[in-house]
Amino acid sequence: MLYVELGRTGLKVSQIGVGCWQIGSRSWGWGAEYGEEEVIQAIRTAIDHGVNFIDTAEIYGGGESEKIVGRAIKEIKEKVIIATKVWPTHLTYDNVLKACERSLSRLGVDVIDLYQIHWPNPFIPINQTMRAMERLVKEGKIRHIGLCNFSLKQFIRAQEVLKREEIVSNQVKYNMIEREAEKELIPYAEKNKITIIAYSPLAQGLLTGKYDPANRPRDYVRRINILFDEENLKRLLPLIQLLKEIAGRRGKTPAQVALNWLIRRLEVIAIPGAKRPAQAEENAGAADFKLTDDELRIIEETLRNIRIRKTVSLLKIPLRLLRG
Ligand SMILES: NC(=O)c1ccc[n+]([C@@H]2O[C@H](COP(=O)([O-])OP(=O)(O)OC[C@H]3O[C@@H](n4cnc5c(N)ncnc54)[C@H](OP(=O)(O)O)[C@@H]3O)[C@@H](O)[C@H]2O)c1
Repeated sequence: MLYVELGRTGLKVSQIGVGCWQIGSRSWGWGAEYGEEEVIQAIRTAIDHGVNFIDTAEIYGGGESEKIVGRAIKEIKEKVIIATKVWPTHLTYDNVLKACERSLSRLGVDVIDLYQIHWPNPFIPINQTMRAMERLVKEGKIRHIGLCNFSLKQFIRAQEVLKREEIVSNQVKYNMIEREAEKELIPYAEKNKITIIAYSPLAQGLLTGKYDPANRPRDYVRRINILFDEENLKRLLPLIQLLKEIAGRRGKTPAQVALNWLIRRLEVIAIPGAKRPAQAEENAGAADFKLTDDELRIIEETLRNIRIRKTVSLLKIPLRLLRG
């Protein structure tokens, strides 16, 4: 496993973490084909393979994800760094404090290592939210503050209103196909020693190579993800083919190649979601090799030639949901 410092905190975090949206969200969007015991074992397997970073949120499964994470780490709390998130409807001063208490209780911990704001809320002044976050640090309920899905302007504003603490991380959507964060957020983070936490690092499973136009996932989350549109899956076939070729040559899997591409080029933490122990083990195995310059160049060339459709006609949405 590879480890990087979280911001300037001194905490060493594994570059592969476990994303826990799936955990607890079985009937809430990610399908129902996996069970609670499997997801608990997935977290423990990841930890056995050197992963120490677990990312969840109060919203995942309406609190179910935090509860299951709590069960999974009960005996090994000292081995893990727990990150959770407060939902944007809870960003007033009092609501942040209350939301944090609920998360602590569901997780069964005394302190949350990284408390992140899940999405900005333009209707609640950010200084109010950040005052509450600083109070939580002072009271020892959270160790560090992170943000997710903030634009650069919103991020800088949130930093400016903090009096004592620094924002240590920025969680953004980042994978081979979705690279918007490279424009502003990643350069800013690198310059200011803020850790980038890459969510959807496998493009919600697309980069594992198991989906194609004839075999699309049927769960709700991915039925509304434009990447899984039939036309896009067709356009992405050359990339999937390449990932399979590289994986075959290196004795790895396409998922491991896609994750390695993220963590070897930059000091990011990738948090693939895992439904089963085998997936968690495979994802942890993405850290123990290094793509060559040639492989990186060919990946880049292939990506340059792929154009993704970014929008779907409004008329098609109900149809897409019905068809799956
Ligand atoms: N801050 C935010 O707003 C935000 C937003 C989204 C996600 N997140 C966080 O980021 C985490 C990961 O993002 P994500 O869940 O969107 O997408 P992801 O990690 O790119 O994809 C996860 C899905 O890929 C499949 N998968 C994972 N490992 C695999 C493997 N080794 N082999 C084959 N399939 C594999 C699994 O689904 P199947 O087996 O069904 O294909 C899994 O549910 C989430 O769990 C959450 O913690 C945060």
